[in-house]
Amino acid sequence: MIVEVNLGSRSYRIVVASGELQSVGQRLRDLRLGARTALVSDAAVMRLYGKSVVASLEAAGFIVTTIDVPEGEAAKTLAIAQHCWDRLLTAGLDRTSTVLALGGGAVGDVAGFAAATYMRGINFVQLPTTVLAQVDASIGGKTAIDHPLGKNMIGAFHQPRLVVVDPAVARTLPEREFRSGLAEIVKHGIVLDAAYFAELERDLAPLAARDLEVLERIIGGSCRLKASVIERDEREAELRHVLNYGHTIGHALEASTGYARYTHGEAVALGMVAEARLARQLGIADDETTARQERMLDALGLPVLAPAIDVEPVVTAMARDKKGKDGRIPFVLAPRIGEFRLVYDVPAAQIRAAIASLAS
Ligand SMILES: NC(=O)c1ccc[n+]([C@@H]2O[C@H](COP(=O)([O-])OP(=O)(O)OC[C@H]3O[C@@H](n4cnc5c(N)ncnc54)[C@H](O)[C@@H]3O)[C@@H](O)[C@H]2O)c1
Ligand SMILES: [Zn+2]
Repeated sequence: MIVEVNLGSRSYRIVVASGELQSVGQRLRDLRLGARTALVSDAAVMRLYGKSVVASLEAAGFIVTTIDVPEGEAAKTLAIAQHCWDRLLTAGLDRTSTVLALGGGAVGDVAGFAAATYMRGINFVQLPTTVLAQVDASIGGKTAIDHPLGKNMIGAFHQPRLVVVDPAVARTLPEREFRSGLAEIVKHGIVLDAAYFAELERDLAPLAARDLEVLERIIGGSCRLKASVIERDEREAELRHVLNYGHTIGHALEASTGYARYTHGEAVALGMVAEARLARQLGIADDETTARQERMLDALGLPVLAPAIDVEPVVTAMARDKKGKDGRIPFVLAPRIGEFRLVYDVPAAQIRAAIASLAS
């Protein structure tokens, strides 16, 4: 499947196909990019997939420098960005060169940030290897490192020239990591596409079992949905808020538990449950719309209950994280599956009740 992301002069394609990592060199050559490339990855992903990507690039005539970064969030620091810049400079990359990110969202974020800033921005290619990175982080051009005072606080918009999604690599993900990525897929269905959500309901079992044909179709469908949002709102004006479904409460849940209790996807699953219930409390959605979301998340092994939840720290974290205009917290709510509505000024008591409802 090929998804075109139409952004004028910054347009690019997302190629979704099993085994496609072996064609990266050819695809890069088609874009007529300079000979020098740098492949950024962590040791674990490099061990699994690095060799075949390097071989593909070299076979297509590219000169490859590999840059090793730590696994996970530890990669997203100024020191690691500096390490990337150092390596790009010593390897002689110039403005025609390309940085490729092979890995999860963290590798994509730091490599993208290095590419965005090196010589005021050079070519960047995403080779996402987690489900979360494939359907979410690699698409849209947001790059960032963390600051001691907050995650993703330092960054730039820098669209990739190409995204190559190889769904087969999802089969080596640890189970918890895999399921967490599915939360973003479910999110896309709930707020953007009722037919896609129904497809998920139908294909739950083979999806959970990582059947390759189903993975490719579902991951490809989710890339298409995210791309359609980016095309209409590249820089996060209004529409891109839709991607925050489940995240307003989900982020707060993550932050208030020190990023230790839940993975991002698990927190977003709980956030979606709470926000679905909020929509029902406000009379925006009916019981069945809420129930379908909970059934889906539960069937995919994502949490729908947070038995010992402490409401106040979540509310405090949410106020700190607020992304709204004039400090108002905008909630993306789903009146029906496949539709969304941006709601401001939700009464605080209703928000508290929705979060508290996660206890049972
Ligand atoms: N830029 C954006 O728009 C955006 C969007 C969402 C999230 N993010 C960022 O993404 C990050 C989270 O990304 P993530 O969930 O992909 O995790 P991650 O990048 O933090 O870590 C992934 C882990 O899985 C391992 N791994 C990766 N692919 C594998 C594979 N195929 N098989 C086995 N192991 C594999 C890696 O070695 C690593 O340990 C956060 O830093 C978040 O801020 C960015
Ligand atoms: Zn998310």
